[in-house]
Amino acid sequence: MVQGVVIIGVQWGDEGKGKIVDYYAASADLVARFQGGNNAGHTLVVEGKQTILHLIPSGILQNSTCLIGSGVVVDPDNFLTEIGVLKKMGIPNLENRIFLSDRCHLILDYHKHLDAARENRKGGKIGTTKRGIGPAYEDRASRRGLRIADLFNESVFEAKLKENWDEKNFLLKEFYGVETVSMDQFMTKYREIARQLKPFIRDVAQILHDEVSAGKKVLYEGAQGVLLDMDYGTYPYVTSSHTLPSQAALGTATRLPKDTLFVGIMKAYSTRVGEGPFPTELNDAMGQRLRDTGHEFGATTGRPRRCGWLDLVAVRYALRVSGIKNLAVTKADVLSGLKELKVCTSYQLDGKKLETLPADTSLLSRATPVYETFEGWGEDLSQLHSANSIPNALKNYLRFIEDFTGSKINLVSTGAGREAVIDIQKAF
Ligand code: IMP
Repeated sequence: MVQGVVIIGVQWGDEGKGKIVDYYAASADLVARFQGGNNAGHTLVVEGKQTILHLIPSGILQNSTCLIGSGVVVDPDNFLTEIGVLKKMGIPNLENRIFLSDRCHLILDYHKHLDAARENRKGGKIGTTKRGIGPAYEDRASRRGLRIADLFNESVFEAKLKENWDEKNFLLKEFYGVETVSMDQFMTKYREIARQLKPFIRDVAQILHDEVSAGKKVLYEGAQGVLLDMDYGTYPYVTSSHTLPSQAALGTATRLPKDTLFVGIMKAYSTRVGEGPFPTELNDAMGQRLRDTGHEFGATTGRPRRCGWLDLVAVRYALRVSGIKNLAVTKADVLSGLKELKVCTSYQLDGKKLETLPADTSLLSRATPVYETFEGWGEDLSQLHSANSIPNALKNYLRFIEDFTGSKINLVSTGAGREAVIDIQKAF
């Protein structure tokens, strides 16, 4: 019996993971985040009401206990804002349902300013969310980072903070030529932050260890997607954490349950926000059609997402490097009504056929997609709930995806709402 499910996007993020996490969380005792930070944006629609969460696991809208593991970088302002939103929604007992690891690194004001200063500078743009994610992970690796536990050791915290602040302000002023950030305001507010965070802080690794040993079911909620992984994505146009399923164990400091299923979330077409190569991008009316019908605007930054046909070369690569064999296909409804659909099955580069993603991202920028064409379907999918009811043209599309990638499609999502799902094979 499956005890653990790891949910990972297998494209460039925004695959609709929030909805799938919310759906699977109904069968999970715990939901754990293990990487990234509030660069993620999970849109949930429950009974017609939309909620966007960036940091707190989407499982909070079900009855699960939600954990934020040590692999996550935490912006305390954002965490407390989301707690406020959930309280306003009337969700009770949050202090006993959301647990934050004291080993998480903090995203502080200077990280956000540095992120923005780099993005606003000419050249070398990544198109980040400007949430300070990269600078916070850099500080972790260079051992300058401040962790949640440090908030409760005032003298050490203040000394480290001052040293970091001086260094970052030097960079902001002398290198980036932008305004420096005053530390005074933060010094007066951090004790309050510590006080408000305290009820949520736990030894998350110990809790997860005990719960897994007791046979409890755990859903591991990935943020971003495999193609944004720091090593295996389209570097340097990636995020600053590992987005692969193996990170679920590292970022929570627990072994994964013996029977753990990795489920890759794949949008029925492709999107990406920010810079970086995107071979199947459509800068035409069809791209606009996908953006409008799919409401393809970033949940975190509101940026219009770049849209294009499904790139199965990229997805097959993502599945290989992450060891994923099961897929949930989202937003199939967005393609309804199109006469024909295209799917990229290889690239052409300098007169040669390319069948996987090259390490040199500049090569991918020059690659042109080779497509197979599929017949579209006109049916409204929103009322369909069984595999048998799937229109034949969509069946062919899905079968091709399975054959090409060597994976099994467990679920098809057909709309934003919780109930718009064709659950072919239950995960838990
Ligand atoms: P960062 O994670 O803010 O440093 O941004 C690095 C890259 O990852 C940029 O291209 C972002 O647009 C992208 N990114 C980060 N988080 C997400 C996400 O949740 N969905 C989609 N793209 C993301």
